[in-house]
Amino acid sequence: MAIQWFPGHMHLTKKAIQERIKDIDVVIELLDARLPGSSANPMLAEITSGKPGLKVLNKQDLANPARTALWLAHYNALPATRALALDASEATPARRLIQACHELAPGRAGMAKPMRVLICGIPNVGKSTLINTLTGKRAAKTGDEAGITKLEQRIALADDFYLYDTPGVLWPRIIVARSGYNLAASGAIGRNAFDEEEVALELLGYLTRHYPGALAARYSVDLAGLTDEQLLQAIGRKRGAVQSGGRVNLQKAAEIVIYDLRAANLGRITLETPEEFAAWLAAGLIVDAERQLKKKKPPRSTK
Ligand code: G4P
Repeated sequence: MAIQWFPGHMHLTKKAIQERIKDIDVVIELLDARLPGSSANPMLAEITSGKPGLKVLNKQDLANPARTALWLAHYNALPATRALALDASEATPARRLIQACHELAPGRAGMAKPMRVLICGIPNVGKSTLINTLTGKRAAKTGDEAGITKLEQRIALADDFYLYDTPGVLWPRIIVARSGYNLAASGAIGRNAFDEEEVALELLGYLTRHYPGALAARYSVDLAGLTDEQLLQAIGRKRGAVQSGGRVNLQKAAEIVIYDLRAANLGRITLETPEEFAAWLAAGLIVDAERQLKKKKPPRSTK
């Protein structure tokens, strides 16, 4: 998919985080509980390595609880890492966040040694919503697609606990093809940057394998023997996405499927497990290395 994964201003974000990280005790990375692996930022791991990390699986209300449990166990087994699941309905999440950070950096407490925490996450993961809940007011968005906010926000969650909002916008660098589809399906990528039909077909392929009951219940279709495209056709027909002449409007059908996922009309769905994501990442890294190698190779002599 032709998506601009790594806009120029990401370099500014990287620089700003690198400057800030020296004085940070714990890094909170907000992840989308429906796609924790794909919504993580590999660059962040690189520049914050060595710092204890709290993974917050946000929007858990939309995710499959059994799979959220798998992801929490996966992260909690990593060194210097804790994980918790959250959603916007939790009115006072500060206590849980503060406690997890104290477990990760037990030496930081009291006014003389306040806890300094950086909060990061890719756009749309729910960072502004969480910060608003924590501050109890409408905090300004730190950044948008147009660029970078110069002013960094520091939020005092307690006398000895400071939360710093990431300076800039953190986009994922996609090494895993599936991550692109999952990010697009979840709403993390602007609608002009991807092909809805392609994303819906990939999504239907995954849902047919992992959530056939949810598909059958929502669309009342018999999935047996249908290709992904035939399934999209059948959904379009059922839902009235039909053009003059009786042909199914696949674009419209794709929008319906994507909307239904985002609105949890298909139930609580998680698009990846830790095991699946690890396999996708391993395959993606090989493809990426080959791509980088090709870029470096000098052009063949024509003599
Ligand atoms: P960002 O700062 O990380 O870019 O994300 P932001 O807080 O703006 O949230 C992005 C979207 O995700 C918003 O929806 C927000 O309401 C929704 N959201 C945030 N946290 C949760 C959560 O825990 N559960 C669910 N289900 N949704 C969450 P939106 O459609 O863009 O805007 P609106 O519906 O608030 O108008």
